[in-house]
Amino acid sequence: VNGDLVPSIGFIGLGIMGAPMARNLVRAGFAVTGFDLNAEAVAALAADGGKPAGSIAEAVRGADIVVTMLPADQHVETAVLGEDGVLAHIEPGALLIDFSTIRPETAQKVAAAATGIRVLDAPVSGGQQGAVDGVLSIMVGGAEADFAAARRVFDAVGRVAALVGPAGAGQVVKAANQLVVGGTYALVAEAILLMEASGVDASAGLDMLAGGLAGSRILELKRGSMLARDFTPGFRIDLHHKDMGIVLDAARQAEVALPFGFQVAAYVQAARAQGLGDRDHSGLLAVAEQLSGRSTA
Ligand SMILES: NC(=O)c1ccc[n+]([C@@H]2O[C@H](COP(=O)([O-])OP(=O)(O)OC[C@H]3O[C@@H](n4cnc5c(N)ncnc54)[C@H](O)[C@@H]3O)[C@@H](O)[C@H]2O)c1
Repeated sequence: VNGDLVPSIGFIGLGIMGAPMARNLVRAGFAVTGFDLNAEAVAALAADGGKPAGSIAEAVRGADIVVTMLPADQHVETAVLGEDGVLAHIEPGALLIDFSTIRPETAQKVAAAATGIRVLDAPVSGGQQGAVDGVLSIMVGGAEADFAAARRVFDAVGRVAALVGPAGAGQVVKAANQLVVGGTYALVAEAILLMEASGVDASAGLDMLAGGLAGSRILELKRGSMLARDFTPGFRIDLHHKDMGIVLDAARQAEVALPFGFQVAAYVQAARAQGLGDRDHSGLLAVAEQLSGRSTA
């Protein structure tokens, strides 16, 4: 917007994902001004070479690009669409990139409300480690020219970024991703249960599965910790519960039936009800065991 050589970024939401992303943007040479409700997170960004802001208004004023990385729909509604939010203070012509995982409908609402600015929905996968290492996968909805304008930001925080359609499309791809991840965990859990209950060496069995058509990244990376019942997060059940809500909501909006999607959502819901909300999503194994009266926990 201002034609400076160093584009300035206002960054809202410096949590588990946002903090390392903001740090990578600082390292890539952007002038990053950050705000979070948590003052410690703002101080940590300042220690890393960013500029602290005391409000959303202060963070986004004068910024060429505004980035948000917030927990869920209601936070985006407040921080972006709210009275003293991003849209109330963002510069005309600026680019808003929302990395949060939210409902496609909310992303479309943000895009519709944003007049005179450019908006991309850009949810990510790759987890905390991917954010730290700057190797996230970024699924983007919006206009081609805006995607091109965001290239340097995406390069600083991610390894791959793809434009998959208009506003909200990035969120739909992220929902599909969470459906497959949750479903795969549930099926691997049932496979472990079946083998163990049958008196089979489940470890040797999973090695076979991992090397064949049943193989997956989840079997590759998580079969050892699942067999050991180590459900240290990772990606928490609570977040996956939020994401399954997004999946079911998106299915309603698209008017399609996703029978397995509903079952996966029930699995995740059961894990939460059993007190596993802050455990890793591989903890769906504990739900499978409970259903058959074979709890190991
Ligand atoms: N953690 C992961 O492994 C992971 C992986 C991929 C995607 N995601 C998604 O990324 C998003 C962020 O996840 P996270 O793990 O960083 O969450 P988090 O809760 O650690 O961070 C969110 C931050 O937003 C801040 N915040 C909330 N409301 C605010 C407001 N009105 N103004 C300013 N700051 C506000 C919170 O204080 C917090 O620091 C979520 O949508 C999540 O589903 C997370």
